Amino acid sequence: MTLRLAIVGLGKIARDQHLQAIAATDGVELVAVASRHAGLDGVANFPTLEELLAGDVGVDAVALCTPPQGRHELAAMALAAGKHVLLEKPPGATLGEIAPLVAAAQRGGLSLFATWHSRFAPAVEPARAFLKRHAPRKVSIVWKEDVRVWHPGQDWIFEPGGLGVFDPAINALSILTAILPEPAFVTGADLAFPANRQAPIAAELDLRGASGLPITAALDFLQSGEQSWDIRIETDGGRLLLSKGGARLTRDDAVLIDEPEQEYRGIYRHFVELCAAGRSDVDLAPLQLVADAFLLGRRRSVEAFAW
Ligand SMILES: NC(=O)c1ccc[n+]([C@@H]2O[C@H](COP(=O)([O-])OP(=O)(O)OC[C@H]3O[C@@H](n4cnc5c(N)ncnc54)[C@H](OP(=O)(O)O)[C@@H]3O)[C@@H](O)[C@H]2O)c1
Repeated sequence: MTLRLAIVGLGKIARDQHLQAIAATDGVELVAVASRHAGLDGVANFPTLEELLAGDVGVDAVALCTPPQGRHELAAMALAAGKHVLLEKPPGATLGEIAPLVAAAQRGGLSLFATWHSRFAPAVEPARAFLKRHAPRKVSIVWKEDVRVWHPGQDWIFEPGGLGVFDPAINALSILTAILPEPAFVTGADLAFPANRQAPIAAELDLRGASGLPITAALDFLQSGEQSWDIRIETDGGRLLLSKGGARLTRDDAVLIDEPEQEYRGIYRHFVELCAAGRSDVDLAPLQLVADAFLLGRRRSVEAFAW
């Protein structure tokens, strides 16, 4: 049976990725959009999720593509109405707001999918398999992009709960927590907050694996010129480099994977499977690392940010 899906929040990621991925995936069909300022030809349009749920369009599932702040209320409303829910990353603005959603999904026999799109990048599974056989010795993450290019005008990103530079960097942490053969935790953080904003624009993190594995992360949201989405891992079987956000994998400079990413197709294939099986997939490990960086971080005030 085809899953009848509604998108909530027709913004950048919904247009850049979700629409094409849904169209390309068997078993799911876009039937409606709920967005206050945007609409789409060929589907039913509503200004809000509340009005969509009160309407007479048959919908089995919703994909929440709104900013993280306020997503809990939308997810709770959709689950209460008997809909499966796909959450864009991060799954919420806090860790605590997720457990009630997991419980509601379970009570209703519904699927809740907290997506981490970077985990569907082509290099991730091969890197995980490699690290199972060859112990990592040292990990360094460099995640540096230009917020003005990738998130133009998105003020929510610098509001409380918007995560600032951790909005992209949580993608690196989602890969890290998927490929390491051991859990990792934050041991120190330096967070640079623009004087006029509520979320960091740059950060340096120290983490450690359970075995003592040293991990560092250098994160910047003001990177001009070449953009970096790299994870370097020294292992007892050579040097691994995941680059281009996980689209490319090299080992000692030999290219193992270099493919165009199709992360969102992987997301929707998995969502269709989850809904068919009545299962949920909610892993909070990446958001927990970010929360711990905020808990432990030294805070520096830096130059005010303007778009
Ligand atoms: N941009 C990316 O490259 C990217 C990549 C992967 C994941 N994501 C994630 O996807 C989510 C959305 O990101 P986005 O880049 O698509 O953001 P966006 O361009 O700002 O779009 C979000 C949409 O949600 C709606 N919305 C509802 N409540 C809102 C509020 N309080 N403030 C702002 N917009 C609100 C808006 O549509 P209406 O005004 O029409 O309601 C808006 O267009 C975030 O969690 C982000 O981390 C983004």
